[in-house]
Amino acid sequence: MKLSAEQRAQFDRDGYLFFPGHFSAEETKALTDAVPDLYSRREAFNVREKGKDAVRTNFAAHMISEPFARLARHPRMVGPVSDLFEEEVYMHQFKINGKMAFEGDVWQWHQDYGTWLNDDQMPTERAMNVAIFLDDVNEHNGPLMFIPGSHVKGVVEAQHDLTTTSYPLWTVDNDLIRQLVDRAGGKNGGIVSPKGPAGSMILFHSCLVHASGSNLSPFNRVAVYLSLCAVSNHIRRFKRPEFIAHRDFTPISMLPDDCLLKLYPVDTPWKDGLPASALETSLEPIDALETQA
Ligand code: SIN
Ligand code: MN
Repeated sequence: MKLSAEQRAQFDRDGYLFFPGHFSAEETKALTDAVPDLYSRREAFNVREKGKDAVRTNFAAHMISEPFARLARHPRMVGPVSDLFEEEVYMHQFKINGKMAFEGDVWQWHQDYGTWLNDDQMPTERAMNVAIFLDDVNEHNGPLMFIPGSHVKGVVEAQHDLTTTSYPLWTVDNDLIRQLVDRAGGKNGGIVSPKGPAGSMILFHSCLVHASGSNLSPFNRVAVYLSLCAVSNHIRRFKRPEFIAHRDFTPISMLPDDCLLKLYPVDTPWKDGLPASALETSLEPIDALETQA
């Protein structure tokens, strides 16, 4: 799948593209049905909400579950990203965020590339976030909030927040958020929240400033977040465990368009649990690790 010149211009201007109903109900069901088994596992790859049992974020499902391994290779998801970068991409991060009914906590204002630069030493912003809704997203169940055009600021100042929620994040302070929202139109479009049916997809720039509120509604808001990085832009440090920031820089090889409906064979090497190597971390740059090996 390729993007039109209009879509490319819109992405450059706003920092995101929204594709409502991009995957059918039947395709989405193949994914949704696999979530309860993943969330039930007592493994490091499930991060739970602070003081609760509800899963906040699940990592690396594409290494564990066949339907998600197929999604990771879907041409309707990978195609437009590698088209925009004019380069092949690899999977940097794969999450299924719960934002469960009544329990889903906030994601503070942040940029993803800030974390990838600070923690993983990813050289440039040539990595894309993809969100795929597994539930309908409405104004009540904690939709994503974007500040349109904020990606043009590049990496903005951020603080490492280790306390607010159960997941550490480089967050942007309120004064800067106020300025960015004013610049984007204040009350008239300074914050947008793409909403739509399960199966909708968003592509958003790795420097786009975003957040989401808590989910006080009785409606789950499960969504997959995939981060695809241009192969030449792979991370240079393994400070975070491999199940969070992947170390296999092989270009993604796409499956046919019907891969969520037909059982194409895929590898799920971590299906019986994480290997010890997936938990190892290092502060050395990877060049140094290669020489030691
Ligand atoms: C994220 O920014 O990684 C997650 C935001 C959300 O799930 O609302
Ligand atoms: Mn994010």
